[in-house]
Amino acid sequence: MAETINPNLVPKRKLSTGEEIPCIGMGTFGSDRFTPAQVSQAVAGAIRCGYRMFDCAAVYGNEDRIGEVFAEAFREGAVKREELFITSKVWNDMHGQGDVLLSCAKTLRDLKLDYVDAYFVHWPFPNYHAPGCDGDSRNPNSRPFSADEFMATWRQMERLHDMGLVRHIGMSSMTIPKLEAVLPLCRIQPSLIEMELHPCFQQQELYEYVLAKGITPIGFCPIGSPTRPERDMTPEDIADIAVPEVVEVAKAHGVHPAVICLKWAVQRGQIPIPFSVYENEYVSNLRCTTEDPLTEAEMAKLKTVERNCRLIKGQVFLWPGANDWHDLWDENGVIVT
Ligand SMILES: NC(=O)c1ccc[n+]([C@@H]2O[C@H](COP(=O)([O-])OP(=O)(O)OC[C@H]3O[C@@H](n4cnc5c(N)ncnc54)[C@H](OP(=O)(O)O)[C@@H]3O)[C@@H](O)[C@H]2O)c1
Repeated sequence: MAETINPNLVPKRKLSTGEEIPCIGMGTFGSDRFTPAQVSQAVAGAIRCGYRMFDCAAVYGNEDRIGEVFAEAFREGAVKREELFITSKVWNDMHGQGDVLLSCAKTLRDLKLDYVDAYFVHWPFPNYHAPGCDGDSRNPNSRPFSADEFMATWRQMERLHDMGLVRHIGMSSMTIPKLEAVLPLCRIQPSLIEMELHPCFQQQELYEYVLAKGITPIGFCPIGSPTRPERDMTPEDIADIAVPEVVEVAKAHGVHPAVICLKWAVQRGQIPIPFSVYENEYVSNLRCTTEDPLTEAEMAKLKTVERNCRLIKGQVFLWPGANDWHDLWDENGVIVT
């Protein structure tokens, strides 16, 4: 029988609405390495062990299998629907008028739910690439960020919220210039924003900006996504779990460096969503939020590990005429329109 962590012992975060959500969730992107059956089996195990938040997405290609797991968990009384915080995301090829609603309807059907707790715009572009494509592939129809286009998508997100199909709406992989362009136009503000956050990529400025707006940050790739697809790897990338300071703190606590990345994330204040299909890993990832916190000195040491090392560069979404992946993040002086 797997170890169970009492969900009541897992710290909570407060959304701007006052609602509490767990300080950690489980990711469900199998990185092209794990089948939907393996990922959904991990979700089943994670519910049993005490996870109450799951980060899903249509593009992960496994929502139908994960939906079977949720249905079974509710049927057998392992957990009640209202005890789970389930998120999903609309993929880039479904930003068109009416498509966001269709995409959400499919997600709800696949997940076998009446509503999701949060629904995200997965990327702020309608730029699409085929699943599993290599890192050099480009779509000639791709185009730069447009606030008008984004807002047309957001209006559909707001409608979903009005209809009660999604309890919160959120954005993902945004930058300060993009947020400055769209937040004043939102009738319903995002409750949550997903952003890449790990010790070697702390995005301090964006992180503080988001908090100041009353938005809760969710940190993806919290362990530095050591097994991400090859298209997302470059020779310059730094492995968080191999950085000497992280390894040193891990030794002091007698845990894997991955666990230190998560303790750092939770104590800093973002909600990490680590992925693993291995029971020993996902159990320790949840348990670490309930015991043996990092000291202030260790938190200060981990702060110095920042290397501005973005792992998910998104180069497959670049448009004709773009310089390089920095354009996607408004780092080449690109003006947001
Ligand atoms: N919004 C977005 O655009 C976006 C982008 C990327 C990701 N995400 C979400 O964020 C989630 C997490 O990101 P990610 O999966 O890329 O990366 P991650 O969580 O940083 O890393 C996952 C890998 O870390 C290793 N790991 C996990 N727990 C461990 C432990 N206790 N000890 C040792 N190793 C451990 C596992 O490798 P092994 O399998 O080798 O053990 C696992 O495959 C995704 O699943 C997805 O839900 C969202």
